[in-house]
Amino acid sequence: MSAPGSAPINAPPLPQCWSHNRPDGCWQLALESGGDGVYDWNILSEEVFFGPRFNALLGFVGESIGHRGEDFRNRVHPDDNSRLNQRVSEHCANVAVPWRCDLRLRNRAGEYQWVEMRGAVVEHDADGRPARMIGTLRDIDTRYHDDFLIKQQLAATAQLNQQLEGAQVQLVQSEKLAAIGQLAAGVAHELKTPIGFVGTNFGTLERYAGSMLSVLDAYRSASSAADPASALAAADALYAKADIDYLRTDLPDLFAESRDGLDRVQRIVRDLKDFSRVGEQEWQFADLHQGLDSTINILRYEIKHKAVVERRYGDLPKVWCVPSMVNQVFLNLLANAAQAIENQGVITVESAVEDDCAVIRIADTGSGMTPEVLSRIFEPFFTTKGAGKGTGLGLSLAQDIVHQHRGRLWATSTPGQGSTFSMVLPLSGLQSLDPAAPTDSGLMP
Ligand SMILES: Nc1ncnc2c1ncn2[C@@H]1O[C@H](COP(=O)(O)OP(=O)(O)OP(=O)(O)O)[C@@H](O)[C@H]1O
Ligand SMILES: [Mg+2]
Repeated sequence: MSAPGSAPINAPPLPQCWSHNRPDGCWQLALESGGDGVYDWNILSEEVFFGPRFNALLGFVGESIGHRGEDFRNRVHPDDNSRLNQRVSEHCANVAVPWRCDLRLRNRAGEYQWVEMRGAVVEHDADGRPARMIGTLRDIDTRYHDDFLIKQQLAATAQLNQQLEGAQVQLVQSEKLAAIGQLAAGVAHELKTPIGFVGTNFGTLERYAGSMLSVLDAYRSASSAADPASALAAADALYAKADIDYLRTDLPDLFAESRDGLDRVQRIVRDLKDFSRVGEQEWQFADLHQGLDSTINILRYEIKHKAVVERRYGDLPKVWCVPSMVNQVFLNLLANAAQAIENQGVITVESAVEDDCAVIRIADTGSGMTPEVLSRIFEPFFTTKGAGKGTGLGLSLAQDIVHQHRGRLWATSTPGQGSTFSMVLPLSGLQSLDPAAPTDSGLMP
């Protein structure tokens, strides 16, 4: 105990109730029965009564740590001294509020243990200086260690969470990369055909142009030849060989076909641009039909050999969303639909407004799913596709995106008959959305 202010040489007599060897019965008993130790400190004389429980808590059973303030002070951990003094001084300046301090005390075994001390000045001397303080001591060592352990565990959990978030970002990126890889393969194939025939046409055009120029040269040189008649005959022969009449009909076809090829390349580039919605990574009002169309176009190669796409678009207002993300959902759903169809089938894409929500349904006549598969499709990494074919992240990513739009995504399916995926996005109340704070809208199917 560190006395607030120095003790006067002639300390006034202590109140009758205080005695270092006669604990003041009732309050001491009450507190000690609750497990706390008590002390009673004569600030002016520096004498302290430490109750039996106080002593026992520090390992002094049947004995006392001492009877003086310094007997206590010597036990305070050096790092806790100034904090304790500060609390006591603050209290002495305003005795209406008792003080409280967690600190370490050296016990009988010489080890520091955490305790909670409380105290309050209960008497003042004639000059108004604090003269007596009583208070309690509580063992909080176990609590402190538990708290410490909990803090350690919390820190470890926070670190793990951070690692998980990092891993999730990487997974999303790898799913996107896988989808882009898949798309790139389709697009490359799609580009190969027009580029192939435009290239072949160019070869033919080169040949045609070469033979036409040689016919032209032959006629031109015939007029100035030494023997114009035979030179003209040679030019006529060249003309007949070049089959100009055939070229006359074939050339327009070649040009038309090449133009068509170039148009196809141009359209693929435009589709890619539309699909990726470069510059549309922000929230905005977007036309979902446009997103569906560009996604269907981009998947044309994957779809066209297996299915016809039937569009049954209703009247949809523009929807507040991040278009590039919503397109990612369409891509995953349409790719799954195409992959579920083994031979020939139909993919139906439907849109409507229902209950102030935009509803998109993508149905296929593919393999369908058993109830067991259906119950797991949104789990990350769940896939029934062979190794290297599916990452099992498409639908879990799609669901994350839909949730970020406060919407809902679900599926119904009949094995052997096909599946229907429904996506619902609310039409109102979304503008205030913070995309970083996803919540489920609770909209039920
Ligand atoms: N239209 C569908 N018809 C039948 N089964 C489907 C359909 N869509 C999804 N599934 C099932 O759900 C599983 C998970 O789909 P998800 O898109 O998440 O992963 P994936 O298609 O297997 O792989 P990827 O990550 O490449 O998309 C699929 O493996 C498949 O079993
Ligand atoms: Mg998929």
